[in-house]
Amino acid sequence: MRKNIVAGNWKMNNDLAQTQSLITDLKKQTKTSNAEVMIAPPFTNLWHAFESLRQDDIEVVAQNMHFASNGAYTGEVSASMLKSIGVQTVILGHSERREYFNETDELLAKKVDAALAKDMRIIFCFGEELKDRKKGWEETVVGNQIENALFHLEASAFQNIVLAYEPVWAIGTGETATPEQAQDMHAFIRKTIANKYGNDIADEVSILYGGSVKPNNAEEIFSKPDVDGGLIGGASLNAKDFFAIVNAF
Ligand code: G3H
Repeated sequence: MRKNIVAGNWKMNNDLAQTQSLITDLKKQTKTSNAEVMIAPPFTNLWHAFESLRQDDIEVVAQNMHFASNGAYTGEVSASMLKSIGVQTVILGHSERREYFNETDELLAKKVDAALAKDMRIIFCFGEELKDRKKGWEETVVGNQIENALFHLEASAFQNIVLAYEPVWAIGTGETATPEQAQDMHAFIRKTIANKYGNDIADEVSILYGGSVKPNNAEEIFSKPDVDGGLIGGASLNAKDFFAIVNAF
């Protein structure tokens, strides 16, 4: 049975005091669903978040990492550094990293390899832009993103991979993919994995949807058979909203 996961990507939000306050609020919430819960604070607050949530059912994950293990890469953080503070999971390939930091499929393949070499779990993000969808190219774009960054891997690597479909036009815009659009794309993604690695691997991989998921639309999106959870941006900055989404399963 594949896992349901709801992960909150805080992006570049929350200083230390705000992180403390949000974590205090998160601890007051009650989880009534079976979803695994994760939060991804900025690097500066990972250690504090990890220590604060040690006894709680909320995993602290990183938003990014470098592919090298150490060296002259000013401003970067490696997989072993993340692991040294207890972080086991990293988000890679977010569209904001692709757009603002020129992260290509080739670079992301190197990051994927580096994370797996350290036994980390990866939430691997991809998704088409509006111009792609208008031309009907969304499946081609998504298929290529998956193939270029992941298809060099052995099947066993997928035990440590979670996929996150995030149509770029739905991120932070308030415009969500319809549940049907999400389901159609998730089914395509699962078929793409099945064609390469077989049905057993495809059936086990969790595929999250991200893009303006809110308390009022989460339940319908999560009710779709191939949607196994969400990668939540804006709504993860409010503990009540975030847990309303967690409990939408
Ligand atoms: O990583 C999260 C996604 O970019 C979605 O962000 O929920 O603010 O649209 P959003």
